[in-house]
Amino acid sequence: MARLNCGVTIALLGVLLLGAAFLPLGVEASEIAVPRGSGITVVIKPGTPTLPAKPCYIIISRKPMTMLSIKSGETTVFSFSCQNPENHFVVEIQKNVDCMSGPCPFGEVRLQPSPSGLPALNRTFIWDVTAHKSIGLELQFSKPRLRQIGPGESCPDGVTHSISGRIDATEVRIGTFCSNGTVSRIKMQEGVRMALHLPWFHHRNISGFSIANRSSIKRLCIIESVFEGEGSATLMSANYPDGFPEDELMTWQFVIPAHLRASVSFLNFNNSNCEKKEERVEYYIPGSTTNPEVFSLKDKQPGNMAGNFNLSLQGCDQDAQNPGVLRLQFQVLVQHPQNESNKTYLVDLSNERAMSVTIEPRPIKLSQNFVRGCFVCLGPWSCSTNVTLTSGSKHKISFLCDDLTRLWINAEKTISCMDHRYCPRKSYSLQVPGDILQLPVQLHDFSWKLLVPKDSLSLALVPAQKLQQHTHERACNTSFSYLVASAVPGQDLYFGSFCPGGSIKQIQVKQNMSVTIRTFAPNFQQEVSRQGLTVSFIPHFKEESVFTVTPDMKSKVYLRTPNWDRGLPSLASVSWNISVPSDQEACLTFLKERTGLVCQTGRAFMIIQEQRTRAEEIFSLEEEVLPKPSFHRHSFWVNISNCSPVSGKQLDLLFRVSLSPRTTDLTVIIIAVVVGGAFLLFALGLIICLVKRKRKKEINKGPAIGIYNGNVNTQLPMQPKKFQKRRKDNDSHVYAVIDDTMVYGHLLQDSNGSFLQPEVDTYRPFQGPTGDCPPSPPPIFSRAPTAKLTADEPSPDFPPESESEPYTFSHPNKGNVSNGNTDIPLLDAHKPAELGE
Ligand SMILES: *[C@@H]1O[C@H](CO)[C@@H](O)[C@H](O)[C@H]1NC(C)=O
Ligand SMILES: *[C@@H]1O[C@H](CO)[C@@H](O)[C@H](O)[C@H]1NC(C)=O
Ligand SMILES: *[C@@H]1O[C@H](CO)[C@@H](O)[C@H](O)[C@H]1NC(C)=O
Ligand SMILES: *[C@@H]1O[C@H](CO)[C@@H](O)[C@H](O)[C@H]1NC(C)=O
Ligand SMILES: *[C@@H]1O[C@H](CO)[C@@H](O)[C@H](O)[C@H]1NC(C)=O
Ligand SMILES: *[C@@H]1O[C@H](CO)[C@@H](O)[C@H](O)[C@H]1NC(C)=O
Ligand SMILES: *[C@@H]1O[C@H](CO)[C@@H](O)[C@H](O)[C@H]1NC(C)=O
Ligand SMILES: *[C@@H]1O[C@H](CO)[C@@H](O)[C@H](O)[C@H]1NC(C)=O
Ligand SMILES: *[C@@H]1O[C@H](CO)[C@@H](O)[C@H](O)[C@H]1NC(C)=O
Ligand SMILES: *[C@@H]1O[C@H](CO)[C@@H](O)[C@H](O)[C@H]1NC(C)=O
Ligand SMILES: *[C@@H]1O[C@H](CO)[C@@H](O)[C@H](O)[C@H]1NC(C)=O
Ligand SMILES: *[C@@H]1O[C@H](CO)[C@@H](O)[C@H](O)[C@H]1NC(C)=O
Repeated sequence: MARLNCGVTIALLGVLLLGAAFLPLGVEASEIAVPRGSGITVVIKPGTPTLPAKPCYIIISRKPMTMLSIKSGETTVFSFSCQNPENHFVVEIQKNVDCMSGPCPFGEVRLQPSPSGLPALNRTFIWDVTAHKSIGLELQFSKPRLRQIGPGESCPDGVTHSISGRIDATEVRIGTFCSNGTVSRIKMQEGVRMALHLPWFHHRNISGFSIANRSSIKRLCIIESVFEGEGSATLMSANYPDGFPEDELMTWQFVIPAHLRASVSFLNFNNSNCEKKEERVEYYIPGSTTNPEVFSLKDKQPGNMAGNFNLSLQGCDQDAQNPGVLRLQFQVLVQHPQNESNKTYLVDLSNERAMSVTIEPRPIKLSQNFVRGCFVCLGPWSCSTNVTLTSGSKHKISFLCDDLTRLWINAEKTISCMDHRYCPRKSYSLQVPGDILQLPVQLHDFSWKLLVPKDSLSLALVPAQKLQQHTHERACNTSFSYLVASAVPGQDLYFGSFCPGGSIKQIQVKQNMSVTIRTFAPNFQQEVSRQGLTVSFIPHFKEESVFTVTPDMKSKVYLRTPNWDRGLPSLASVSWNISVPSDQEACLTFLKERTGLVCQTGRAFMIIQEQRTRAEEIFSLEEEVLPKPSFHRHSFWVNISNCSPVSGKQLDLLFRVSLSPRTTDLTVIIIAVVVGGAFLLFALGLIICLVKRKRKKEINKGPAIGIYNGNVNTQLPMQPKKFQKRRKDNDSHVYAVIDDTMVYGHLLQDSNGSFLQPEVDTYRPFQGPTGDCPPSPPPIFSRAPTAKLTADEPSPDFPPESESEPYTFSHPNKGNVSNGNTDIPLLDAHKPAELGE
């Protein structure tokens, strides 16, 4: 008895131990019974392996298998050979519903067999409904409604709904959806296949949808979205991102609460190649009297719609050879009507010409959160995120946007002179029109493109308030600036940024330019009265620009060369006309010691010329020390001309002009007279001694000489050629000054605009009103005769850097040296960047 007891105990213990060892492994037997006649097949098969692991098998009657299929009326008992079968296997439950041969089981769809009776594997329940072509099938989703996802997206909880339909025998993907969206109903014809994927850990035991029969919908499908509050939905055409089936029709219906507004925007679309009919979208918009509203896919789509609306995508008959792809991904945004949407602004551009005003989103970093749409509406329904108003008509605009600081305005206007005989009498005021300033959106840029005929006219800008150049030393603190730049294609030239409150009275620019008023702060509205420029057309001149500066004693004036950080363009020349009141003197200071410039070809130099006496000093800017601060008692010119610099060694100069009262009391005069007399003889002697040395870099009044770069952008009319020699090297030329005529070399352009060989030509003195002639070319009155010293070879008599070489003409060359006798030296083997015009 005791032995028996003992044996039983041991056996029990063993069973218990076995059980203990058995259970944690989870190698329990499962039983699946599929009811007879249910049309259900359960398949357990390997899934997409997550981690490489030990192989796992399905064990049926001790036989390992990798796949198991249980049909209607069958019952199978099985277990797994591993403890985590969810990493290896998935279960697919397919139910075929045939509505063709018998009555269709409509209504709530149950999960069958119940998920609790299935092993904890990823499950996919598939319902495959086949129906007659004339029967509409409707899938209704109770909450949660569905949210469509694009290719490559996944659902946060792993539950996905894949819905497809059928056209004849071809499957058409309607879309993949997550829970938590707006899609409430999907109507299809001919059949539907719905696959509900539930991850193994998800305890959902309901399908969440029902099927109903409807009359024929006469199209591929209808998708209904219901919004209960603000939100957005992204939806896609069938088969997206692949092509929409040929010549099909798909409709989306939207149910929008009455107090909200909906806007549609197309995120992505493509058109196929249509042979017959046109691809289009049609809207039924409540309140519209012209329904359906037909749009092309590339049109702006309607916005600010109140009430329920629907949208249909209609395909076409495609070209069989090259069908192309019709696809569409769009967003519907539903939000409260914004306060501004009730307000209409009239922008009257009917009297404007060549002007466009764009209201567009300010480029900002997109946050991850839901951002409300910000639309500009032209009329009640034509809303877009980016609207361009053109001149010649009146525009009624409103905003569907809760934060108008997310938008800004950019505008452009072109003023061009067509006839050089007529324009010089005209001037235009550059002012931002009041209709644009009244808008509740910040103006960012208003640009005027000022165009003049080539080589016959230049432009003068006169500001309503004198301007200050923005420099590091004296930064603009106004809410707006004028950005002045060249508008010649291929010429990358920026004259600078200027704001009111300085000493610049006028800016003259040689050729086509743009002036942009750019605002920096919302208080531009308060400073708006300080804007205003007048542009007039003036006779053509040689420099890129001329600045007229009238400083006052209150502050120092800082001026810098154009293109500051990138360096003055090759061979460009710029002048400053600096006025000095009669009882004051100006101190001109350069803010660095050396230019750091290295010329590849040509010469860079600076001329400082007193306007009254025309005495001038010429400084080479090539690796030379810049002049020390100098005092000027009379108005003077500063002219800076660049060579063709070695890259990285550009020319950029910054200088300062400050005024102070002249120190002219009596004792100073007496001392000056006495001391002056005493030193006169000595000085004369000294001057005689020094003059040779000094001439090297600085030439006073006496011999009138200058060094000028023929500007590449300058084309004079073809003139008789002075020098008709041929040269093969690219040395610079050395000329001396002759007669009253300035000798220039120019690249000539022939009548059809192509470059001829460069040639040396005669520059005609400026013929405008006297006193309007900056020193580039400097005044010609006191000029000594100019003689060509060398034209062909570098003269051994005039080595570079010798004191006799102050006259250098440089000529960039583009043409090749093939055309015989009109050739002149090719200075620039390396053509300057701006040459290509
Ligand atoms: C189960 O589904 C999840 C996503 O829902 C997937 O990541 C995983 O790979 C699936 N498991 C198997 C074995 O396929
Ligand atoms: C559904 O939306 C609610 C609230 O917006 C959120 O808490 C929940 O995580 C969402 N569920 C899914 C599956 O996206
Ligand atoms: C689903 O599970 C809930 C509890 O989680 C239960 O109340 C409900 O009856 C189940 N429904 C079905 C159809 O099994
Ligand atoms: C739905 O099906 C039932 C019977 O199957 C039929 O009587 C009814 O007319 C159908 N409804 C529609 C809208 O087709
Ligand atoms: C689809 O349209 C986009 C622009 O919307 C374009 O970049 C793309 O090349 C087009 N794709 C095809 C296949 O035509
Ligand atoms: C679209 O809306 C209009 C008006 O509400 C309605 O007459 C039409 O039947 C709708 N079309 C579809 C396909 O829902
Ligand atoms: C819109 O108007 C309401 C009252 O009319 C006001 O409380 C709200 O601040 C306004 N919102 C904006 C963005 O102006
Ligand atoms: C918008 O305009 C309508 C009439 O045009 C008016 O009834 C409504 O009160 C206005 N709403 C606001 C917020 O101004
Ligand atoms: C707005 O449209 C204009 C003209 O079509 C375009 O130049 C501009 O880049 C657009 N702006 C944005 C932010 O898309
Ligand atoms: C300036 O613009 C006008 C008009 O577009 C053009 O005819 C002219 O050639 C341009 N000038 C230059 C230097 O490009
Ligand atoms: C801007 O600078 C000027 C002097 O340069 C000064 O008088 C003025 O007060 C400044 N304005 C502001 C708003 O800082
Ligand atoms: C130089 O500036 C002064 C003062 O503004 C002006 O009177 C004179 O006409 C200017 N000269 C030229 C050539 O523009």
